[in-house]
Amino acid sequence: MIPTNRRQFVKSLGVAAGAVSMSALSYSRVWGANERLRIACVGTGGKGWSDLDGVAASPSVEVAALCDIDSSAQHLGRAAEKFSAARQFADWRKLLDESNDIDGVIVSTPDFMHAPIGLAAMQQGKHVFCQKPLTHTVFEARQMRLAAEHHGVVTQMGNQIQSHTAYRTAVQAVHSGMIGKVKAVHSWQAGSPSWPRHIDRPAGSDPVPGSVRWDLWQGVAARRPYKQGLYHAFQWRGWQAYGTGQLGDFGCHILDPVFKSLELTAPTEWVAEAPPLKAETWTDRATVRYRFPATERTTGGPLELTWYDAAGVRPPRETFSDLPDTYRLPNAGSVLIGEKGTMVIPHVAMPKLFVAGADSSADLTVVEGVDHYVQWADACRGVGATTSGFDYSGPLTETVLLGTVAIRMPGETLQWDSEKLQVVNSTVAQQYLTKAYYAGWEPTWLTA
Ligand SMILES: NC(=O)c1ccc[n+]([C@@H]2O[C@H](COP(=O)([O-])OP(=O)(O)OC[C@H]3O[C@@H](n4cnc5c(N)ncnc54)[C@H](O)[C@@H]3O)[C@@H](O)[C@H]2O)c1
Repeated sequence: MIPTNRRQFVKSLGVAAGAVSMSALSYSRVWGANERLRIACVGTGGKGWSDLDGVAASPSVEVAALCDIDSSAQHLGRAAEKFSAARQFADWRKLLDESNDIDGVIVSTPDFMHAPIGLAAMQQGKHVFCQKPLTHTVFEARQMRLAAEHHGVVTQMGNQIQSHTAYRTAVQAVHSGMIGKVKAVHSWQAGSPSWPRHIDRPAGSDPVPGSVRWDLWQGVAARRPYKQGLYHAFQWRGWQAYGTGQLGDFGCHILDPVFKSLELTAPTEWVAEAPPLKAETWTDRATVRYRFPATERTTGGPLELTWYDAAGVRPPRETFSDLPDTYRLPNAGSVLIGEKGTMVIPHVAMPKLFVAGADSSADLTVVEGVDHYVQWADACRGVGATTSGFDYSGPLTETVLLGTVAIRMPGETLQWDSEKLQVVNSTVAQQYLTKAYYAGWEPTWLTA
């Protein structure tokens, strides 16, 4: 049963009362000057390696535990060598069972395991740094936001580019009124990823490498045979069971400065153009048209935001009357069309400002970057606050994943009641907000 809104959610909390008081205590505890934040990292290869390094850069952090389903050098091995005093695990459930001394958990696994691990950690009162997209389903994203608020823990999504000088400069420029109120937004990713898309699952199986715990990798997902180079590592992105496709992979980065600058929350309506999906993989091209309610930063009517992802495809040039003919749009990014000017936010480079067809980028005020990782570690110790806590990154992820719901049913305009967590005009789309979990691996939801 999906707890649809905050009232129902709060009503259902009786079941977790013990965990609640413990976590509230953990957050409010007073840190001694020399006391260090004890961190565990789940998923220490790939992005986890740099997440771990980033958080460990804080002198207030001690890396106490490492967890990876692959013990080889590129995965657990390298991290275990660098943080040799940390305890080592293959199974995150065992880590959490033995984690009384852990204050915070970094979750850098493939997308489909973010919520199961993140929720379990928060239920133990632990602070969580979790990679983007925050979750695999819309329902999970809502749960992560509400759980973070309920347990009073410090959270940060790993959309680290938000803290880069480029995105911070862009957000500041919009907030300072340089392009006036915004009329429309176009965002795109024209790259061609190396991971599999729009294919059928090959038959057969390959031997599981000795270093890999394939059962643990599959976690909450239905079991299937191991195939070398198709899922672990990195390639899982294109499979519906594990990843979120190109929109899920890039949306939480590219749409982030749009959300931050325009203070968007949830769309009211959206529709995708895409070819019919193969049974198990994501598409290789899609356009998603979202409509958002107006905000203080947008013109009076609803805001239209269009997302494009297809190799080599950028928004049509005629859309942008303010851009000089000689200017070539970057491979990925956003264009915000304002009443006074147009801003291009490349992914990732300094923004460009155009006013009346002229490049006015020299007028932008450069905002220094901050450390996205240390910011979380500091906030866990009561110093400052995070900027991509789940109260912000949950709704951002919900919007991105609503796009992936529409990609499953191209051509159908869907209408959203965010408060009720409901696609009001489609029971089929409503089903895509959540998914089945492998028996014995169901997350504990905050519901009766
Ligand atoms: N913020 C960014 O710029 C950025 C960049 C790349 C990836 N990511 C995100 O980081 C996450 C990981 O992506 P990746 O490219 O590193 O994937 P990957 O498959 O290359 O690496 C994942 C790591 O987690 C380990 N792992 C997998 N399942 C596990 C489990 N259940 N328990 C413990 N360890 C497990 C793997 O062995 C591997 O070491 C994804 O959510 C992805 O979207 C973010």
